Amino acid sequence: MRAIAAMAAAFSLAACASAPDEARSRDLAADGRVIVEQRCVSCHAIGESGESPRQDAPPLRRLAERYPVTALEEAFAEGILVGHPAMPALRFTPEEIAAITAYLESIQERRGG
Ligand code: HEC
Repeated sequence: MRAIAAMAAAFSLAACASAPDEARSRDLAADGRVIVEQRCVSCHAIGESGESPRQDAPPLRRLAERYPVTALEEAFAEGILVGHPAMPALRFTPEEIAAITAYLESIQERRGG
């Protein structure tokens, strides 16, 4: 009986997630979070709070203070990040870049206006 209840819960979750665009960008951001958890977390704080493991690496939620997150998309595509000497060269597929960018956008601390 318990298994059936769990399955029913899983199905209703799946039904929610199939709602249009908004759910799609949420999925993309979730994929991006997975990538960032694997590739960035050793140096950067990647969540909505907390400090970076490396003190000289800015928490990713604060990137928008320096430049629009969408500007990073191009940098990732070229495998170059300005001011990133400590980091090994990053190469991502277009899908990964879209996911990372969606995730970064989702965690930026919003400032007034
Ligand atoms: C080996 C450690 C390390 C890893 C791994 C790492 N970073 Fe960094 N990152 C740094 C450091 C250190 C800085 C600060 C460099 C500076 O300001 O001189 C930085 C800065 C940045 C900046 C800001 C650059 C600027 O000019 O302000 C971005 C954007 C960034 N990292 C994104 C990422 C992303 C996305 C990942 C994962 C895909 C990642 N980093 C993984 C160490 C790392």
